[in-house]
Amino acid sequence: MQTTGTAEFSQLSAHTGMEVTGIDLNRPIDAGLQAELNRAFIEHSVLVVRGQSFTPGQMLAAVQLFGDLFVQHNTRFALPECPLIHYISNQDKYPDGRRYIPGEGYHTDHSNDRMPPKATVLHAVQLPDSGGDTQYVNMHAAYNGLPAEMRERIDPLRAVHVYQSRHSARKLLGLTENAKDRVPDAVVHPLVRTHPQTGRRAIYLNPIRIDDIVGMEEAEAQALLGQLLAHATRPEYEYRHQWRPGDLVLWDNRCLLHKANGDYDMRQKRYLYRVMLTGDVPV
Ligand SMILES: [Fe+2]
Repeated sequence: MQTTGTAEFSQLSAHTGMEVTGIDLNRPIDAGLQAELNRAFIEHSVLVVRGQSFTPGQMLAAVQLFGDLFVQHNTRFALPECPLIHYISNQDKYPDGRRYIPGEGYHTDHSNDRMPPKATVLHAVQLPDSGGDTQYVNMHAAYNGLPAEMRERIDPLRAVHVYQSRHSARKLLGLTENAKDRVPDAVVHPLVRTHPQTGRRAIYLNPIRIDDIVGMEEAEAQALLGQLLAHATRPEYEYRHQWRPGDLVLWDNRCLLHKANGDYDMRQKRYLYRVMLTGDVPV
């Protein structure tokens, strides 16, 4: 049985990221260690468990240490043998033949759901020799870094999230027909949300999904969202994850934006498993 004494924790940046070594999530974990891992995830928003090796079924079992499994929207990426796991790959193409790099451009996952996933979990199966980092920016830190007048301005605002915003610079691969029935047309979420477990406030931004701000004229809304994104993605709020084979990385979609980087040799395959965990209605 693995206990809190088995694991070693080390912080990855001042505000975001905790690394864990010395544990194998395929072996039994006691309640104390499970609680410690969950506490590290909640307090540091990104939890990196090094050196794991999973079949799809083992990954599903391991991530349930942190919550319940969420059914992801675009079933085109589901593993046929294990549909609760989707894959992230650099080998897919748009219909016009251009390479599709999932996750380019800052976003938070599935915010067009009424109850967006609290966490996304990736497991690195195959990585390029270098590059392909995932960047995270901390939306608690970004919110706290705003001038008081701006916090007061955005606190009461609500935003309309859709599958693909008409303002998005990045085009998503379309939903499969069966997924269209499950994915809502539009949902409204607060632009500043309160983390249900810590009570901390965070900017809840998503340039890929936010179409409008309720009651605000389009040009003004776009200007405000652009200003918030420029502020929130400043280097001081960032933790940049350099992947190692075997990494299991769990992040908190309620208080982070993240983005992928297609900056590596595309002849090398990059392939990860992705699982999401259920969350709450943002408030
Ligand atoms: Fe994502």
